[in-house]
Amino acid sequence: MEWNKKTFVIITGASKGIGRTIAVEFSKRVAAGSKFILLARSASGLEESKSLCSPDVVVETLTANLESPDAQKIKNFIAEAAANPDDYERAVIVHNAGSLGNLQRSAKDFEDLDEINNYFNLNVGSMILLNTMFLKAFPKSEKYKRLVINITSLCGIKPFQGFALYCTGKATREMFLKVLALEEPTVKVLNYSPGPVLTDMADEILAGLKCHELRKPFEDLRTNGSYLTPEDTIGKLIQLLESGNFESGDHVDVFDI
Ligand SMILES: NC(=O)c1ccc[n+]([C@@H]2O[C@H](COP(=O)([O-])OP(=O)(O)OC[C@H]3O[C@@H](n4cnc5c(N)ncnc54)[C@H](OP(=O)(O)O)[C@@H]3O)[C@@H](O)[C@H]2O)c1
Repeated sequence: MEWNKKTFVIITGASKGIGRTIAVEFSKRVAAGSKFILLARSASGLEESKSLCSPDVVVETLTANLESPDAQKIKNFIAEAAANPDDYERAVIVHNAGSLGNLQRSAKDFEDLDEINNYFNLNVGSMILLNTMFLKAFPKSEKYKRLVINITSLCGIKPFQGFALYCTGKATREMFLKVLALEEPTVKVLNYSPGPVLTDMADEILAGLKCHELRKPFEDLRTNGSYLTPEDTIGKLIQLLESGNFESGDHVDVFDI
């Protein structure tokens, strides 16, 4: 993939952490006049991310809670921002927003349907909705290429104790996008697993896992200084996109690049 193209980019969960770094690093590489839509709940976090992006790109922020999204508002926003799709040479959506769920419940302990539904609204349902909005705004065309990046996890392909909802959500997202890759050969799909990254989510894991045995590997990552920074892992993602060394729908782990 060549970066120097006029690109339309939507990034969810762009107010901090990995999503912010994706926005900043992608903005430095795309052609001037590219447009970035940054979405999350925190308006101030989004503004800070925007301030860190290259001044050569147009950045628009959209505050939305993807647990209970106002679908019409988001659809209108995207439709307006992408009113002239042929202005772009590439369109990219990065499904990055995500949450851990209650790490203190084991798989046998989920009995509140609202809790379960809220989790899947954010981590699966909203991703599917946004993906459809994106593909409708950028229908199949000779004018531009389309790329869907899902920020996934090792948890999407391997079970981890304490992470029942997280593992299920990540596995579901991946499978949905693998079907998309099969159905739509002109849409390139990447499920990128960023490895253990030092963000607020890493802190939430330590705060959420009460059982010593389950906490231990995460404490060790910290003690050993083995966590990646968002810049490390997004550097690898950029390297992977440049090489094009994956099949559409693949799950690629940072440590395999
Ligand atoms: N950190 C890791 O070790 C690691 C490892 C593997 C995969 N991942 C994945 O990487 C992605 C980014 O994680 P991160 O580590 O950067 O975590 P983070 O720092 O906690 O960032 C999460 C992002 O998601 C957004 N978000 C959370 N709930 C939301 C909601 N209800 N509506 C809209 N946006 C919401 C947050 O924004 P607001 O709070 O402003 O809404 C924030 O921008 C996640 O999908 C995560 O599963 C992380």
